Amino acid sequence: MYSTSKESHYTRKLGRKDVVVGLQWGDEGKGKLIDWLSKNQRYDVVARFNGGANAGHTVVVGDQTYKLRLLPSGIVSGKHAFLGSGMVLDLEQLNEEIKPFDKSATISFGKNAHIVLPIYKQMDSEKNAHIGTTKNGIGIAYELKANRSGIRLQDIWSNDLNSKLERLNSTLLERGYELNTTKVRQYLESYGLWMRPHTFEDSPFLKDKVQNGGNILIEGAQGLMLSLDWGTYPYVTSSDMSAPSAYASLGLTKSDSDQVFGVTKAYITRVGGGILPTELHLSNKYSDLTSDTVSAIDLLTLDPSDETTALKLVKDGKEFGTVTKRLRRVGWLDLPQLKYAIKLNDVSGVAITKVDVLSGLDEVSLATKYKFNDGSEYMGDDTKGYPSVSKFEDGFNLEYKTFSGWDDISSDWDKTKTYLDFIQDYIGIPIVLVSYGPKRSQTMTFPEGI
Ligand code: GDP
Ligand code: IMO
Ligand code: MG
Repeated sequence: MYSTSKESHYTRKLGRKDVVVGLQWGDEGKGKLIDWLSKNQRYDVVARFNGGANAGHTVVVGDQTYKLRLLPSGIVSGKHAFLGSGMVLDLEQLNEEIKPFDKSATISFGKNAHIVLPIYKQMDSEKNAHIGTTKNGIGIAYELKANRSGIRLQDIWSNDLNSKLERLNSTLLERGYELNTTKVRQYLESYGLWMRPHTFEDSPFLKDKVQNGGNILIEGAQGLMLSLDWGTYPYVTSSDMSAPSAYASLGLTKSDSDQVFGVTKAYITRVGGGILPTELHLSNKYSDLTSDTVSAIDLLTLDPSDETTALKLVKDGKEFGTVTKRLRRVGWLDLPQLKYAIKLNDVSGVAITKVDVLSGLDEVSLATKYKFNDGSEYMGDDTKGYPSVSKFEDGFNLEYKTFSGWDDISSDWDKTKTYLDFIQDYIGIPIVLVSYGPKRSQTMTFPEGI
C-alpha cells in the first residue's frame, strides 16, 4: 500500500528540461536565443554541458553587451547558472567572467568538469594550428580526460592532488612539455578553492530541481557540424554538442514533453578550416579584413558578384569571431546540412537569426541539393548520414533556389516570409522564432510555426 506522501511524489508536476543547440558551424546566435528564452519563459536553471572558453555567446541588453565564454547566457537575466561536468574550465577566464555577476548570481559547477591548465593553451597553439582551433586548450583538455591524466574540479581539494599532478606531468613529459607542479597547485588553489561549496554531481543536483517543478534550459556551445562525432572530422572541436549528448552529459534523460530548440542563421558562417559547401569566397586581397576595414568599404561601388555578397554578409553581419576576432567565412544557407542537423538533434522548433543581414540584397539564394561527382545526391535525407569530407574533396556541385530580395523585413514581410516558408517546408519542422537584430526586442515568435 502506497502512503499519501508517495502518491503526491508521483502526481507532483515535474519541471521541463529543454535544450538549445547550434545547427551549423557555431555562432548561430545561441546566446541571444538563450537570453530571450531565459527572460521570457519560466526557466529556473540554465546549464551548459560542453566545451569551454572556445565558445563566445553574445547577449545584448540595452546598451550593454555581454560576451560569455564559460558562463551560461541565462546568467544575464538572473537565472541559476550551472556549468556541467562535460565542460572544460579555464579557471582564470572563469574568475574574470564572473566579476560583473559576483554579487547577484547563483552559480554551481559539476564536480567532474576538467580543468584547462595554461600550458594546454600553449600546446593547442603549437599542435593544432592545422585545424584552426581557438587556441584555448580545449582539445588538449579533452584528450587528457580520455587518457585519464586530466585534473578535475573536485581534484583541487582532494588529498591526492599532488600525485595526480605528478601523473599528469609524466604524460606531458612524454610529449615534450613540463609542468611546474608547485606553481600549478598554487594556480588551482587560488582560482579554484572558492568553488568547492558550489560544486555538485550534475545528475542528482539537476534532477532534484526538476522533481521540485523547476525548469532547466540546457545551453549548447558550438554547432552540430563541429561535433567530434557528427561533424566534419577532423575539422571539428573536441566535444559532442548534439542534443542527445546534452542530456547524457548532465546525467539526464529527455522526456517527450521536453523541447529541443535548434538555432540557425538565415545564411551560414564558419571559422577555422574544413569544408563549407555553400561558401561565398573572398579573394586573397581581403584575407586581412578586419571589422574596421570592412566598415570602410562602400558596397555600392562594387560590381555585383559572389564576392560582393560575401563582403555584405561579413559587413552587415559583423562576422568576426566573438573571442578570436577572426574573419568568419560566409555563405548561403545550406538546407541539406540544416536538415541533417535537425534530424540528428530531433529538433522540435527552429530559431532563425540574422534575417536582417540579408536585407538589401537583390536576390537571396539557398542550397537545396548536393550532387557529387560519383553521381550520388544528398538532401538531408532521413536514411543517409552527412556525406564524408572525402566525398566533398572528390568534387561536388550544388543546386540552389533563388528568391527576390527584400529591403526591410517589416515593410517587405511577404518577400521575407516566402524565403522563410520555403525553409520551413523543406526542413519539415516549425520555425518558432525569427531574430532580426541582436537586441531582445528584435525578435518575433510563431508558436505554431511561420
Ligand atoms: P553564439 O555563439 O551562437 O551565441 O553566437 P555569437 O554570439 O558568437 O554570434 C552571433 C552574433 O550575432 C552576436 O554578435 C549577436 O549579438 C549577433 N546577433 C544575434 N542575433 C542577431 C540578429 O538577428 N541580427 C543581427 N544583426 N545580429 C544578431
Ligand atoms: P560558439 O559556442 C564557432 C571552432 C574553431 C575551430 C574548431 C576547433 O561561440 O558557437 P577548438 O578551439 O574548439 O579546438 O577549435 O572549432 N569553434 C567554433 N567556431 N563558434 C564556436 O563556439 C566555436 N568553438 C570552436 O574555430 O575551427
Ligand atoms: Mg559564438
